[in-house]
Amino acid sequence: MIELIDMTYVRLGTADIKAAVSFATEILGLQIAHEEDNRVYVRGDDRDHNICYIDDDPSLNALGMEVKDIGALDSAATELAAAGIAVKRGNQKECADRRVTDFIAFCDPTGNQIELTVRPFKATRRYFPTRDAGINEFSHVGLRSTDAKIDESFWTSLFNVRANDWIGPAGLLSFDKVHHRFALFPSDRPGIQHINFQVDSIDDLMRSYYYLCGKQVHIVFGPGRHATSGAMFLYFEGPDGMVYEYSTGVRLIDDPEYRPRQFPFTPEAFCVWGAVPDIPEFKD
Ligand SMILES: [Fe+2]
Repeated sequence: MIELIDMTYVRLGTADIKAAVSFATEILGLQIAHEEDNRVYVRGDDRDHNICYIDDDPSLNALGMEVKDIGALDSAATELAAAGIAVKRGNQKECADRRVTDFIAFCDPTGNQIELTVRPFKATRRYFPTRDAGINEFSHVGLRSTDAKIDESFWTSLFNVRANDWIGPAGLLSFDKVHHRFALFPSDRPGIQHINFQVDSIDDLMRSYYYLCGKQVHIVFGPGRHATSGAMFLYFEGPDGMVYEYSTGVRLIDDPEYRPRQFPFTPEAFCVWGAVPDIPEFKD
């Protein structure tokens, strides 16, 4: 069993790195952590970075998650290979680029690029953005899935991952107490479907709602509250069509007796307040 212990980062190719970074800093509220030739690293918490924007094809999307140590990484590589998954070990240059001590890369059955990292760097200074959106953590991502059942079984059989609820076929999956760390949304292609940042309160969420409206940012869903995690949310679209989410109040699951629930694939399951998603993967 491969034990995930934390989210590490996402890596996003972008057709216009200037536009992506200006959106990340001026609209989303992230801070630039580092800039190199064709990459910019940004963060909203005490990790070294949460997103690395790369001047490259926007279809380049990778999700990094952490395992405990080098031994756990070695075992993960062996277990994945035994399951018939092609695994690539990161070299020194690739580790330096990701600001981690070691990592392996592989694809889930849909073809999402996943990286398992060891000892990712922490930031040496506190997060200090130019726009205070109230962000306190990079918390989860939505992954596209061409077959949610097959992908879910990949994650739950090889990893310490369980589904905590489903909306239609879409599993909301986690490896720790947080209701979901990633979710598998039906799609016709691989890739990261949305990137979530937790904010401190509903006040931050609503302040951002009015701020984003004033900046003519395309709000694609919300403000609303998820039936599944209980989190209040706001989704909006950035450059390269990437959807970003603020949320607050996500359910933490401590109860060992907790049973995952099946919700219908309806707007009401995505939002108990009645907001209707303008997100293709959230619609039938
Ligand atoms: Fe989300």
